Amino acid sequence: MRFAAQKGTKDILPADIYKWHKAEKVFAGVCHDFGYEEIRIPTFEQTDLFARGVGDTTDVVTKEMYTFNDKGGRSITLRPEGTAGVVRSYIENGMGSLPSPVRMFYNITAFRYENVQKGRMREFHQFGLEAFGSEGPAIDAEIISIVDIFFKKIGLKSIKLCINSIGCPACRKKYNEILKDYFRPHVSGMCEDCRTRFERNPLRMIDCKIDGEKEIVKSAPRLIDYLCDDCKAHFEGLKANLDAVGIRYEIDPNIVRGLDYYTRTVFEFVSENVGTQGTICGGGRYDGLVENCGGAATPGIGFAMGVERLLMEAEAQGIVFDKNDSVRIYIAGMSEAAGAKIAKLCYDLRLEGIGCETDLMKRSFKAQMKYAGKSGIPFLAVIGDDELASGEVKVKNMATGEETPVRLDGFVEYCKGNIV
Ligand code: HAM
Repeated sequence: MRFAAQKGTKDILPADIYKWHKAEKVFAGVCHDFGYEEIRIPTFEQTDLFARGVGDTTDVVTKEMYTFNDKGGRSITLRPEGTAGVVRSYIENGMGSLPSPVRMFYNITAFRYENVQKGRMREFHQFGLEAFGSEGPAIDAEIISIVDIFFKKIGLKSIKLCINSIGCPACRKKYNEILKDYFRPHVSGMCEDCRTRFERNPLRMIDCKIDGEKEIVKSAPRLIDYLCDDCKAHFEGLKANLDAVGIRYEIDPNIVRGLDYYTRTVFEFVSENVGTQGTICGGGRYDGLVENCGGAATPGIGFAMGVERLLMEAEAQGIVFDKNDSVRIYIAGMSEAAGAKIAKLCYDLRLEGIGCETDLMKRSFKAQMKYAGKSGIPFLAVIGDDELASGEVKVKNMATGEETPVRLDGFVEYCKGNIV
């Protein structure tokens, strides 16, 4: 019997992992530069957290969650995203008493039972962050600049930033009525989900995957035209803060995001190359979520970016990541006696943090040379009986072909100064 990876999941193979390491390192570095520390949250949570946090009228909660009862009869869900878990942790660990804003970033897997296609997986990875305690709009612009700087450091170009405001509960309430009046004559002809959304959360009808392209949805009244004065001022503040640092954006009144917790600022970074799965990063403000999940009223904001989509986009743009080159030297053995000496040299090199490899396959000398040549290891040393007798070995730079004689008793010192 042969096993295969589950639909919508993917191995990240050793041959590709350097790209992930690079992206992870750059993301963590940029977050640190903005005063964020990493948080690691559990992979699964109590199902109710997502129903409450993400929203029980969203596709994510109603259709896409991996939910099961554990052996203790608890309803458990594999996290479909990170925000709800971070909010739970913020409340549970009393982080509200820390100096504000409380800022955290994460690098997680997330699980959604989706229709699998390019850039749409059932297990995928997100880089994200959340910040609590600041009403903005300066922090809204700041987290957007984190994404902007991260993209620049990775080398990505042509990623369009789209922003919108979906207001506070007060403007939403007013708008929902306007939207209901607008959709009322048409709702019977809309999909089953939209008929439910009409009653429970009419805003969701705007980004319906089935009806979304219909003219009736496209011409629906837009929330941005019904913002209250405070929300309007907040949105103006966001734009002014983005303008101040020179981050370009488009206002897209159709961004409502697929999760229910958002208030005011919402944004997406969309690839201009990729098609339907072009949203690389999405986020926004969620001023009611902490309270809704049982904490004290605390404003919050964050984003998450899909790492698979990020790397797809990087590849489409021809970005080349540095490969892991921590193995600096290959030491080939020409005799049995040399084996013991090589083992000791390798041990000492590794103790000094200098990566090296030697033969573990009983390869012939010729085969060792072939392996060393193919592996791309930048330096080579060959040790046989002659080298043991003379106490000297040649270290070859594989790129230039240059050979340097080195005393065996000073070999590690030489490598420390010359091959790393
Ligand atoms: P989201 O828009 O659902 O937001 O997901 C963020 C990003 O994750 C998407 O833009 C996309 O790149 C990636 N993504 C989502 N679903 C998939 C999938 N099935 N396969 C591959 N990539 C996917 C959130 O998750 C929010 N928690 C973001 C946030 C944080 N808002 C505030 N704080």
